[in-house]
Amino acid sequence: MTQIVGLIQVKGGVGRSTIATNLSAVFSLKKPTALIDCDLPQGTSASWYAVRKSEVPPANLTLATARDYRELINVARELSLDHRYIVIDAPPRIAEMTRAIIVMSTLCLVPLGASAAEIWSTADLLTTIDAARTFRKDIDVRIVWNRFRAHTREALDLSEAARKELGLKELATRLGYRVAYSEALARGLSVDEWLDRAAHAEMLDLATEVKGILKEKGK
Ligand SMILES: Nc1ncnc2c1ncn2[C@@H]1O[C@H](COP(=O)(O)OP(=O)(O)OP(=O)(O)O)[C@@H](O)[C@H]1O
Ligand SMILES: [Mg+2]
Repeated sequence: MTQIVGLIQVKGGVGRSTIATNLSAVFSLKKPTALIDCDLPQGTSASWYAVRKSEVPPANLTLATARDYRELINVARELSLDHRYIVIDAPPRIAEMTRAIIVMSTLCLVPLGASAAEIWSTADLLTTIDAARTFRKDIDVRIVWNRFRAHTREALDLSEAARKELGLKELATRLGYRVAYSEALARGLSVDEWLDRAAHAEMLDLATEVKGILKEKGK
């Protein structure tokens, strides 16, 4: 059974493409995986994949794009025939595309940095998530902390505020603020391949945690 992980967030620049590209690359080490870039014309994931093709053999990783939710549904249906995982990089807007991604994903991840602006914009997403629950009761949307500065008081205070305000579950794995993420992205690599030890370890933890959640749902 194909399982779909959607990366959604209203605000731009929060790490959707970073997490989508890294997770799909790590998933593809074990199983055929597809990455669907729905954030066009920007197309960060698609550009990453184009660079990647010249750097490493894409092997088990396929890239697709979708310009609207109908195309997304068709593309995902086709990819689900021969891919174990589909990772979707969503656009930074609440539109039909985001709604479709929430409904079709086995698990949605909302990257969030410990900043007030990001927490406010995530609050806008809650209405959309609630509306999606009228289509599917078991919708699962979880926060993944990104650029998290665990040692700062501000990060701890804001994450506590987000917990109260948003009421979403969160992943135990938090991604730190590391230059390796932008360096790897520019080279079409995952941080796993870029050999930054800390980023490598937390990305493998993230992939393991996500796979664990998906496994539970597959039972
Ligand atoms: N944990 C991190 N540490 C350092 N830099 C990061 C981290 N996560 C993301 N970045 C950098 O922040 C920038 C924005 O990240 P990314 O493109 O993944 O966000 P996005 O939500 O997809 O943004 P957009 O709205 O532009 O699509 C990129 O340059 C990326 O390399
Ligand atoms: Mg992006």
